[in-house]
Amino acid sequence: MINYKNEISKLISDSININIDNITGFIEIPNDSNLGDYAFPCFRLAKELKMPPQKIAEQILENMKYDKELIDNIEIVGGYLNFFINKETFIRESIKEFDKKRENYGSSDLGKGKNIVIDYSSPNIAKPFHIGHLRSTVIGGSLYKIYKFLGYNSIGFNFLGDWGVQFGKVMAGISLWKDEYKFIPGEEINTILDIYVRFSKEEKENPEMTKLAKSWLKKLEEHDEETYKTWEWIRKISLENFQKTYKLLNSNFDVYHGEAYYNDKMQGVIDELKSKNLLEESEGAQVVNLDAYNMPPCIIITSAGTSIYATRDLASLEDRAKTYDFEKALYVVGNEQQLHFKQIFKVFELMGYEKYAKRCEHIPFGLVVDKNGKKIGSRTGNSVVLEDIINEAIDKVKNIILEKNPEIENIDETARKIGVGAIIFNDLNNSRIKDEIFDWDMMLNFNGETGPYIQYMYVRTKSILDKAEYIPNIEDMNMNKLLDKESINIIKDIYSFNDVVVEAANKNEPSIISRYVLDIAKNYSIFYNNNRILSDDEETTSARLYLTYMVNIVIKNATSLLGMEMPDKM
Ligand code: ARG
Repeated sequence: MINYKNEISKLISDSININIDNITGFIEIPNDSNLGDYAFPCFRLAKELKMPPQKIAEQILENMKYDKELIDNIEIVGGYLNFFINKETFIRESIKEFDKKRENYGSSDLGKGKNIVIDYSSPNIAKPFHIGHLRSTVIGGSLYKIYKFLGYNSIGFNFLGDWGVQFGKVMAGISLWKDEYKFIPGEEINTILDIYVRFSKEEKENPEMTKLAKSWLKKLEEHDEETYKTWEWIRKISLENFQKTYKLLNSNFDVYHGEAYYNDKMQGVIDELKSKNLLEESEGAQVVNLDAYNMPPCIIITSAGTSIYATRDLASLEDRAKTYDFEKALYVVGNEQQLHFKQIFKVFELMGYEKYAKRCEHIPFGLVVDKNGKKIGSRTGNSVVLEDIINEAIDKVKNIILEKNPEIENIDETARKIGVGAIIFNDLNNSRIKDEIFDWDMMLNFNGETGPYIQYMYVRTKSILDKAEYIPNIEDMNMNKLLDKESINIIKDIYSFNDVVVEAANKNEPSIISRYVLDIAKNYSIFYNNNRILSDDEETTSARLYLTYMVNIVIKNATSLLGMEMPDKM
């Protein structure tokens, strides 16, 4: 594929006697294509050349010898050099490139042989899998797929919160009230949740309850047989329950090493910290002092003599580095844990793992809020259990479809794809650090910037191709039938797909792909509204069908990177 930025950068540096590394980085893509396909702002060289931008532009243009096959025309406007590429070449080369890969278009082997450990979702067991975990699950799931598409070996890591004081609460609650509750097979998780909620409530009024919870945790930590069995049982049914949500959302994990997995691996970390003189005593606890880095101390062993979250995370990080020799380790976790990760990465560096510590990155994200900006999930009374919410989306979609198209086949499957797709797209639609607005009307609007809108455009391409019984073939295709502006805009999108995926990976930002797929869907919609695809003109029809075919695949591939599935009909 022609790399236009590189080609233009070469042309520029060959035209002036100056050695600058980053010309490629300065090249822009004008918003208005009347100003060219690429533009070079000459003021970037003004300091170096001691000339006004306009002069620089003139001089470069005067010396520049360019191939008409590549560049059609160059204009000078306001100190910019505007490059108009040769559209025939562009279309031909882009289509040929697409045709080589077809279903795999956009993928690459950039990351071949490199491991990326992605810690995401990682819910706490014995607590509800609630809407707060949606974002980590969806953002992490998308990053997992993006890296895979670029040839990396993604390792989906679920660091289940399967140890800690919440177990003490549930077990204490069970011991107190088990005769009052029914444990219905398949629905035990709800009972456990009820007990947890009741315990937490009563605890607020009665501090004795906290003591009781701690005593149960202690029994668990001492591996009291009965208690440990109960823990295993709670873990098992929680996990079974999470799997239902993961299945709905299409989430993949390669490893489920929860906090409990590190129970017998923490001593190693503690010994290492000791031998490196990193541990000091503070108010009865063992901590790593981080004053020098403007952070509060990282507690390793509490004054009660127990390990904590940080200790487990360190043990897990060491294990990840040793097992995977990772290129990157990502932690897709809410913004409120920022300090925790800064501390962990710093302590890990101080332990001597500088190389790996530098490869760790916390990937934070904003809250889920309602349309008034109020956080969802904070005791609103509404159901915030993730599985219920997803099922609600599916039901709502089903009703919408039944109204529009009652005869549709496979309605359940279609409603699932659209409902889940709407939730996923809504989550990934804006940069992750922004709060996500969770509003049914907004995310289920088939004409908005939504998942259903994208799916609708996809279905449109599919039904056109099906109707024409299209078999893609570029052999005798007259590509010059795609020289109109609307087609070229679409081909430009197609041309940039892989770059977009790379950028999304570099910034760990799936929204770059969401915005991209919205853009191509909109461009196709404009094209579709203004042109007939199937007509008597065979050459035009066949070129437009190929264009439609490319859009079909690119939407499918791009949305699959977000974790969305495309319905066949809707
Ligand atoms: N279980 C934690 C929570 O729900 C998230 C864990 C994130 N991963 C990690 N390695 N600390 O808040």
